[in-house]
Amino acid sequence: MSTLEEKFRELDERNREALLGGGKERIEKQHLAGKLTARERLDLLLDSGSFVEIDKLVKHRCTDFGMDNNKIAGDGIVSGYGKIDGRLVFVFAQDFTVFGGTLGRANADKIIKVMDMAMKMGAPVIGLNDSGGARIQEGVQSLAGYSDIFHLNVKASGVIPQISAILGPCAGGAVYSPALTDFIVMTKESSYMFVTGPDVIKTVTHENVTKEELGGAMTHNSKSGVAHLVGENDESTMMMIRELTGFLPSNNMEDPPEKPFTDDINREDEKLQTLVPVDPNKPYDMMVIIESVVDDNNFFEIMPHYAKNIITGFARLAGKPVGIVANQPAILAGVLDISSSLKAARFVRFCDAFNIPLVTILDVPGFLPGTNQEFGGIIKHGAKLLYAFSEATVPKITLITRKAYGGAYGVMSSKHIGADVNLAYPTAEIAVMGPEGAVNIIFRHKISDRDKTAAVNDYREAFANPYKAAELGYIDEVIHPRETRKKLIGGLEMSQNKSVPGPSRKHGNIPL
Ligand code: HXC
Repeated sequence: MSTLEEKFRELDERNREALLGGGKERIEKQHLAGKLTARERLDLLLDSGSFVEIDKLVKHRCTDFGMDNNKIAGDGIVSGYGKIDGRLVFVFAQDFTVFGGTLGRANADKIIKVMDMAMKMGAPVIGLNDSGGARIQEGVQSLAGYSDIFHLNVKASGVIPQISAILGPCAGGAVYSPALTDFIVMTKESSYMFVTGPDVIKTVTHENVTKEELGGAMTHNSKSGVAHLVGENDESTMMMIRELTGFLPSNNMEDPPEKPFTDDINREDEKLQTLVPVDPNKPYDMMVIIESVVDDNNFFEIMPHYAKNIITGFARLAGKPVGIVANQPAILAGVLDISSSLKAARFVRFCDAFNIPLVTILDVPGFLPGTNQEFGGIIKHGAKLLYAFSEATVPKITLITRKAYGGAYGVMSSKHIGADVNLAYPTAEIAVMGPEGAVNIIFRHKISDRDKTAAVNDYREAFANPYKAAELGYIDEVIHPRETRKKLIGGLEMSQNKSVPGPSRKHGNIPL
């Protein structure tokens, strides 16, 4: 019988072995590739000393291909819970030094365990992905593990925030769990996501493409729209996730976390009085308005590299988190197209699911015309944005700074689809379309050039202003731009206890 001392020594030995993962050599290889290990990443992500590891001693049960002689405690996943800014989060981190971080039955069960716990305790789950995908030696058990995780991702959707970091390869089915989560953050030059890699693509389609071009961080942040944020390295990616989490409630039954604030709620900004040019064809930077009005000018942009004609992101107003959606007239005149509709719609749905009030700022000439857009399905993609705003029952405050033309007026959180407070600047133009387009249609072939100029001016006088809409009660108040901050805060304060019971139904049918 072993002594007490021997029993304690065995425990220490087992823990030591687990902490080493795949061993010193593989850890060095990971560092040489510019990547941190799973444990180093968790150290950065979580408040110091808060990590509680579970299932550290789990081993796989595979016996094929010599695997019975190759078992490593933890089996390639470090999982458990800890705190970010003192708030509980559940985490799992794939350890690339152990079987390439690949997913087998035993470590899939570790992920499932933390996801189940996260849902029961009502706390976010954060997955750090760095993996060769399905563990080949485990065959269908590995596929089953992935599929069980997908199912849980869907069950957790809208219940607890789910955040994925991509910090290495992420191939095949492995991309679909992150894709089902709310936010994907990738690291520059060391993370990849693709359904099939460059070699398979070459065989099937004869295309030559590098893995960076195919599925690197900037590809998914700027081209595909799969990812939401990009970090320069593992450390900055972890810091971004910490910052993002700070805006989110722990679950859908909570309000988002308030913070004490010192920024004056009545603060006015004189530069906003002259920011929006009277000439509707002149661009300006919408970001100036956003940064001017939010607490401490601190705006956390989501998807900053994708569909830049619309801006989405989080900020605080009077200490309370809000989601901001704003057209960006400095890019493509702020037009709504397929990409910007998708980007904004998903963001709006996230905010609505997690009780985050929406502030929508419009300067939009309408939907982008053209065969590209029509063949690509702008009708159904634009409808997603319309659906998302209509469906959202969180407090909705809308401000029109300049153009609100055509369908885009209705879609972008208008009074008619349930906004609670609708504001406009005196520079607002709320009409079916811009003056030139309108006159061309109304007086087609029936008017000389001189009369046309007069008609354009008449139209501008009559419609290119906020007052027709204000007379009808579609705009609650026309405000001075300098007072935007206090007006937004006032609207949010008034609507903070809003409650809108929905009709009984299984779920709606968003035009996917
Ligand atoms: C088992 C694997 C593995 C896998 C890598 N390894 N991928 N073991 N199953 N899928 C092991 C390697 O043998 C190696 O072990 C260690 O992980 C590190 O791999 P390397 O190749 O040395 O590293 P690197 O050169 O950095 O390349 C990483 C990689 C490459 C790009 C991920 O290994 C690779 O392409 N792997 C295959 C990826 C893949 O096709 N996965 C299946 C996707 S399909 P040692 O012992 O030498 O350290 C899928 C279906 C899911 O996931 C469906 C869900 C329903």
